[in-house]
Amino acid sequence: MLRRNRRLRTNESVRSLVRETFISPNDFLVPIFVVEGKQVKEEIASMPGYYRYSLDLLKQEIKELWSLGLKSVLLFVKVPDELKDNAGTEAINPDGLMQRAVKTVKDVAPEMVIMTDVALDPYSSYGHDGIVNDGKILNDDTNAILAEMALSHAKAGADFVAPSDMMDGRIFEMRTLLEDEGFHDTGIMSYSAKYASAFYGPFRDALDSAPGFGDKKTYQMDPANRDEAIKETLMDIEEGADIVMVKPGLCYLDIVRDIKNAVNVPVAVYQVSGEYAMIKAAAEKGWLDHDAVILEQLTAIKRAGANMIASYFAKDAVKLIS
Ligand code: PBG
Repeated sequence: MLRRNRRLRTNESVRSLVRETFISPNDFLVPIFVVEGKQVKEEIASMPGYYRYSLDLLKQEIKELWSLGLKSVLLFVKVPDELKDNAGTEAINPDGLMQRAVKTVKDVAPEMVIMTDVALDPYSSYGHDGIVNDGKILNDDTNAILAEMALSHAKAGADFVAPSDMMDGRIFEMRTLLEDEGFHDTGIMSYSAKYASAFYGPFRDALDSAPGFGDKKTYQMDPANRDEAIKETLMDIEEGADIVMVKPGLCYLDIVRDIKNAVNVPVAVYQVSGEYAMIKAAAEKGWLDHDAVILEQLTAIKRAGANMIASYFAKDAVKLIS
């Protein structure tokens, strides 16, 4: 035998010399769930170890993230039922929970990159990402309010708006309005290849945002499709997306690699709530090694081509590698 591959695996020093993929605090977007109230830190039932925070307690959490070297957050809000309606009107309230959350984070950590979720579902009485009419989700009418929502987040101080709705043409509408209003430096991270996945269940618990009827298959993508992910992503880039995303993570790493090879903008991957819940549940039963599985999955996501990862494990990962 002239060639022995095991020579490069002899010990950890050699392995670290030839390692191709690394995880660092710079890789992460930390999803944050915000609720109204005071002194609230409530655990999400289907996401053990993950919490919703009221704005006062959010401050401490942001300080901790910053001290761990985590420099980007992705904000989501849980909206009280009485503020929900079909058009998601509360989404553009300049004094709404999201707008206040942005200001709170900016106050505590001025250099933190703040990304805001732009979609109607947490605000919608139907739990859909768009305006509902006669059982259908209206595309163009929804875009108009999504653009207003993005503008409202930009005015509050968001660095990036992150549309997660999957309406057609929304990036163009948002970019145009942001430019017209002088928000040239507000970026757009588009959830460009977002699949109609069964892995979003725990997130919908976290925000009480499950669809009241039907499903999201007329706007989110069919998990069976691959070429379509590239079409969606290239269109979003043409419309002005600065960062594109594939979501969920683990089941879609082939898509991540396809997109990485097809585009010249940064690619984000969202390791979603169901992926978090699966690992937590198996680890709780003693069936999987929690820490090892986290690092393996995050490494696999980066190896597939992710430039950044939205992950509920960001804090765990950073502590494990430090
Ligand atoms: C909604 C939205 C969802 C997620 C992020 N934004 C759920 C959905 O589309 O129903 C899921 C994130 C996760 O599961 O962690 N616009």
